[in-house]
Amino acid sequence: MFEIKAKDGKGRVGVLKTRHGDVKTPALMPVIHPRKQVIDVAKYGADIVITNAYLIYKDEDLKKKAIDEGLHKLINFDGPVMTDSGSFQLSVYGDVEITNKEVIEFQELIKTDIGTSLDIPTAPFVEREKAESDMEITIERAREAINYKKEQNMEMLLNSVVQGSTFLDLRRECARELSKLDADLYPIGAVVPLMESYHYRDLVDVVMNTMKDLSDTVPRHLMGAGHPMIFALCVAMGCDLFDSAAYILYAEDDRLLSTRGTFKLENLQEMPCSCEVCTSYTPDDLRAMPKEKRRDLIAQHNLHVSFAELRLIRQAIYDGNLMELVEERCRAHPALLEAQRQLGNYAEDLEKYDPRSKKSAFFYTGPESLLRPEVLRHMQKLREMPKKRDLVILPPTRKPYSKFISGKLGEFYVYGEEREIDLDNADFMVMDIPFGLIPLEIDEVYPLSQSDAPKTRDVDSIEFIEDFINEFGEYYEQVLIHSRIINDLDSDLYVKYSLSDDIRYKKDDVKKVKAIADYQFGNGAGDALFTGNINIEKSKKTGKIRHIYDGKVLIVNMRASDSYLILSKEGARRLHNATQYPKNRVVVNKDSEPFALDGKSVFCKFVVECDENIRAKDEVLIVNEEDKLLAYGKAMLGACEIEQFKTGQAIKTRKGMKK
Ligand code: GUN
Ligand code: ZN
Repeated sequence: MFEIKAKDGKGRVGVLKTRHGDVKTPALMPVIHPRKQVIDVAKYGADIVITNAYLIYKDEDLKKKAIDEGLHKLINFDGPVMTDSGSFQLSVYGDVEITNKEVIEFQELIKTDIGTSLDIPTAPFVEREKAESDMEITIERAREAINYKKEQNMEMLLNSVVQGSTFLDLRRECARELSKLDADLYPIGAVVPLMESYHYRDLVDVVMNTMKDLSDTVPRHLMGAGHPMIFALCVAMGCDLFDSAAYILYAEDDRLLSTRGTFKLENLQEMPCSCEVCTSYTPDDLRAMPKEKRRDLIAQHNLHVSFAELRLIRQAIYDGNLMELVEERCRAHPALLEAQRQLGNYAEDLEKYDPRSKKSAFFYTGPESLLRPEVLRHMQKLREMPKKRDLVILPPTRKPYSKFISGKLGEFYVYGEEREIDLDNADFMVMDIPFGLIPLEIDEVYPLSQSDAPKTRDVDSIEFIEDFINEFGEYYEQVLIHSRIINDLDSDLYVKYSLSDDIRYKKDDVKKVKAIADYQFGNGAGDALFTGNINIEKSKKTGKIRHIYDGKVLIVNMRASDSYLILSKEGARRLHNATQYPKNRVVVNKDSEPFALDGKSVFCKFVVECDENIRAKDEVLIVNEEDKLLAYGKAMLGACEIEQFKTGQAIKTRKGMKK
């Protein structure tokens, strides 16, 4: 009922299937007022809408019409409709005249596509005891609703709302408890007050903690989020659905939405976008109009910018540059920038979902980019790699660095005990933003070459890299730093070194492919893969390594776009022999063994175990539970997703081991 089509980090493009049609996510559901609706939201791009079942229930005329003719007729929309349960009214008026069971029954009766149980929205920053007891009632009602739905064989999909106020452990507990139930969607509730008061940093804490314990297979709805300014950030945290009364509420107030914030009509000299409204009227035209006509036109503009933003977000996910869009959007307001910085504290959570390689380059847009999962991941890999005795740090050149570094490298300063340098016992790395240190052998691997940062450095990134070098230098007996970058660093630490010998970097293709293999598959993979009579074939046009053989037997291909190694049958065999179960492995059950051997792709439901370090786009081994090599291929998802999903492809198999 929910299928993921593309992903970037925790952001995904998906399809939500309902009995009134499919919805492409991330999606915005305009709020429809069951009585007062004047805007035809479908005309302006809505594929799904949300309305309030309780308001219908409370109004005798609406109720009768909804029961007799159905909800879709009532609101004149024939696509998917979600209904809310009256919880919002509960939170405002303190009471509602309906029980949980009654509202579930009513929603099914009027044929809603997605119904909601009667959760209790707990305001932010309340007493813990209140948050806890509200949450317990919310969970109990979700359970009651799900059981009732099953009992009555109801057709509608069901929302189970996550509450817990601003207590992050309660949000997690609520998410965990709800995940044990069979809900169809998980809305995140009671965040409207946080957004209204610009507490975006708290919003990030609430959403990211909720996400830690919510299943990835189920769509998540950020309830009451309707300002396009925050869509990209929220999608990057894993939200799939938004709902908006903002489009009409703001229009009633003569306010125009934009991804840069909100414009008051009274202040506008220029129309803010290129939608039909903005190109047909001037601000003076609008100001001169009767109130209702003006409101409808502003609402039309508001819907337009909201849907345009979602299209842009979905494209960014396809292109693999969602975080660049988030960084751009979060410059719109200091509170959003603060939120983005807070998201940096969740880089470890985001990293699990981030594909190993993307179509887009990594763009450094400011110090916040240093907190992105790609940077964290690279630094962790560096810590794990085997080290030589000395470390030589070079200034950046054009990329790929190794292509532009040659000859005598110049003058160096030394940190640590000064001694004769042994060039064969030194690691050569380039210092650059944002990845800190890049070993020359792996500099073509994604995203180390496929990244860009301004040549003029900012203080934060220098400090960030300096801290990393100070930490990382501890692995070495001697650290030599090139004179051209010494001024960037805290130079008190370094003493000038009078060199007796010239320092040169010796390029070595075998060393290079082994280093890439170690970076990609783990330490030791390079030695295991590349033994025998190693023969490296390069592209005549670009000079890049393309194929690596042992004699005439192909071991790996190197992909031109990201320099990752693609295993051959022999490569898979060698990697399998050299690494320990479950490293680099996806383990499939008995039933799917013959299919895997035959080269058929592996579906998530057949996977019984997998290496937790696998990320989307990794080259992996497919084995059975006795660790017999069956096939090899490319992971479509990360390990944590493969474990959760019951449908969809886990591995696109390259070849089965059957001849
Ligand atoms: N609309 C906005 N916030 C909420 C919430 O917490 N629960 C429900 N049911 N609807 C909402
Ligand atoms: Zn416009």
